[in-house]
Order: sequence, then structure tokens, then C-alpha cells
Amino acid sequence: MLSKAQGKGGDDAMKTMTCIEDLRQAYHRKVPRAFVDYCESGSYAEQTLRANRADLERIALRQRVLNDVSGRSTKTTILGEEARLPLILAPVGLTGMQHGDGEIHACRAAQAAGIPYTLSTMSICSIEDVAASVAKPFWFQLYVMKDRGYIRALIERAAAAKCSALVLTVDLQVIGQRHRDIKNGMSVPPEIRISNLIDIATKPAWALGILRGKRKTFGNIAGHYPSMSNVTVLSKWIAEQFDPTLSWKDVEWIKSLWPGKLILKGILDVEDARIAAKTGAAAIVVSNHGGRQLDGVSATIDALPEVVEAVDGRIEVLVDGGIRRGSDVVKALALGACAVMVGRAPLWGLAVAGERGAAHVLELLRAELHLALQLTGCRSPAEVTRAHVCRGPNNSP
Ligand SMILES: Cc1cc2nc3c(=O)[nH]c(=O)nc-3n(C[C@H](O)[C@H](O)[C@H](O)COP(=O)(O)O)c2cc1C
Repeated sequence: MLSKAQGKGGDDAMKTMTCIEDLRQAYHRKVPRAFVDYCESGSYAEQTLRANRADLERIALRQRVLNDVSGRSTKTTILGEEARLPLILAPVGLTGMQHGDGEIHACRAAQAAGIPYTLSTMSICSIEDVAASVAKPFWFQLYVMKDRGYIRALIERAAAAKCSALVLTVDLQVIGQRHRDIKNGMSVPPEIRISNLIDIATKPAWALGILRGKRKTFGNIAGHYPSMSNVTVLSKWIAEQFDPTLSWKDVEWIKSLWPGKLILKGILDVEDARIAAKTGAAAIVVSNHGGRQLDGVSATIDALPEVVEAVDGRIEVLVDGGIRRGSDVVKALALGACAVMVGRAPLWGLAVAGERGAAHVLELLRAELHLALQLTGCRSPAEVTRAHVCRGPNNSP
């Protein structure tokens, strides 16, 4: 069925994938275990990973009826730009190892759906590869490394590629441990395990796709350090380069280098949100890195309302974590987000069937969002307010 999804029969295969969970299951069948675990895992006991979903599910929407639900729209604006959905593809490292040239396919799917795509610093395709292969500007996500000369060069490359926003990730200056990555040898440097090789041998469609891809290493870094020719050396360098000294002063420095819109991703606390609102950044992303960093922190949907209140309209607030359905998007909008980022969901579709698979996930989200707007009595995302959700089992707002 999966190889069909890539060929002529692909449209039929997509038709039977009626929800994002179907694509997640197909993803698990197609891609080697080590990469599936890398995507699906959270850090430590995965409490926060689970809470992101569970707390979204605990929120109930308010159904409103007899409203003439024709002529509804999912259109909105994100950072002043029109978007067809209140949705952005979150930065996801190693996307090009889930599907050959994955970043290019994912970016094309996002642009066709009329929403922004965020390219990770840790992408396989480089900024320049993606820029040369897509029609419109995309966002670039920045990890700050100890080598500030490299960071300056990376910012200049993003500006030269006409990236329309810089997303500075602020919650990964030290790295949370994901047990399964260590057990699978997805450590730094990566270990070649017999079990991984056997698993890869049973996933030929994935392997063929990767072999056809342009690159097999970290595209944004390999070009800058030609001496680091192989992925093992590069991975070791990366692990040593995350900078624990990262502070608000660096935000100022980056702001001085970046001519465009700056977004701070990984804000969860009201105090940090207040400081962020004074930096001149255009937006913050309420994020716990998809439950991959500090385990035990709040689900993002729980942190969101207080952050929105704290910044009081001085900065746009985006949120990510556990968004799997259109109704989740309405819940996030109701609690004050302007738009949401999605990480894993489009990645599952991408890995299953490239651009078409990612596009299918976005179409499922669009259709579900459209219906959720109709049945909550909202004409557009802008009309969604706190009044459209009941929180908790006693329906208290
Ligand atoms: C496999 C994977 C790789 C990720 N890589 C990055 C990254 O390179 N930079 C970053 O800022 N966030 C990264 N994230 C976090 C996502 O941008 C986003 O915050 C998170 O995935 C949202 O949760 P969701 O996957 O439940 O939608 C990654 C997440 C996953 C699952």
C-alpha cells in the first residue's frame, strides 16, 4: 500500500487515509524504527509529551447551531501576512532523513496550502537548496551555537535567501535526554547497530527515497565546515556547540543582525513572555519543544492563556504541541493564540508520500478546522474567542 502511495495508485491510498492517525500508522510501517523513535519520543518519562495531547483533549468546544454556516473561511493573518489557515509548519530537524529531500517537499506542501514553512537549522537540505526549489519565501529557525561567527554567517545566509522570518529557538541550549534515541544508537555521534541495519533492510521504499535525495548530512553546517565531511564528525561538533550561556543579551545581538521579523520559540512562562514582549520580537511561540526538553513542565495549552494575558496584545502569540486535529486549532485560538505550529503531524504524511502526503495532512487539518468553525458558530479564525470553549469537566471557563 505504501509504495502505491508514491506511485500512480497514490491518490487511492490517500483517499483511505481519512485522519492523521492513519498517516501516523502508515509512517510507523514505512520508516526505520530509529527515525520513528526520534520523531515520536519525548524526553525522560514523557509526561509533558503526553500532557500536550491529554490537556488538549480535556478541553470541550461549545457547539452552536442554526447559524447559517455557509460562506465560512479559514483565512487569517500571521505576522501581518495573509495565510489560508492559522497554521505554520514547525521546524523539524533531520526531516530529510524521514523522506529524501524532505524539507523541499514539506515546504512545497505548506506553500501550496498557503501557510508558512519553517526550515530547521538541523535540516538535511540547506537554506540554499530549499530557496532554489520553492516558489516563495519561508521561515528559518535558528539554534545559537558557541561559534558566533557561524551564527552570523547563518543569519546572513537566511537573509540572502529572503527568508521572511527568523525563528530563534530559546529552549534548547542544553539537550533533554530521549531514552529511545540512546538505546537506538541515535546518539552523537550515531552508532551503527546491526539491529538498525536489519530494520533498514526491511524498509526498501524509505531507503530508496533517501538514496535519491540530494543530501545525507546536515546541509546548513556541512557547507560551512568543508573539513567535516562525514555525519559522525559533524554530529559530534553539533553536540559540543549548543551554548549553555545563551541569554537575553544574545536576543539583542541577533535582533541587531536580522533585518526582518524575529520570533522567539520556546516560551512557556509568563515572566519570560513579559521580557520577550520588550525585545522588539514580532511573536513568541508558546512551546515545550513537543515534550522533548524539560519533562514535567506544563502542557502548552495550559500555559497559553496566562502568557496571552501577560503580553496583553504587545506581541503575537503562537503555540505548538500536540496539535493533531482541526478542532485542536480552534481550542488554541479560543485560548488566545493567533495561529498554531505543527511538528509531527505533517512529518508523518511527508514520510509516507512526500509532498502529497504532507499536503494530505494539511488538507485534513483544513477540512476539520473548517467544520469546527462552522459548528462553533464562527465565520473565521478571527471570530474564535474564549466563549467558544468550556474548560475542564465542570465546563468552567
Ligand atoms: C523530530 C523532531 C525534530 C524537531 N526539531 C526541531 C528543531 O530542529 N528546531 C526546533 O526549534 N524545534 C524542533 N522540534 C520541535 C518542533 O518545532 C515543535 O515545537 C514540536 O514538534 C511541536 O509539537 P508536535 O510535534 O506535537 O506538533 C522538533 C520536533 C520533533 C518532533
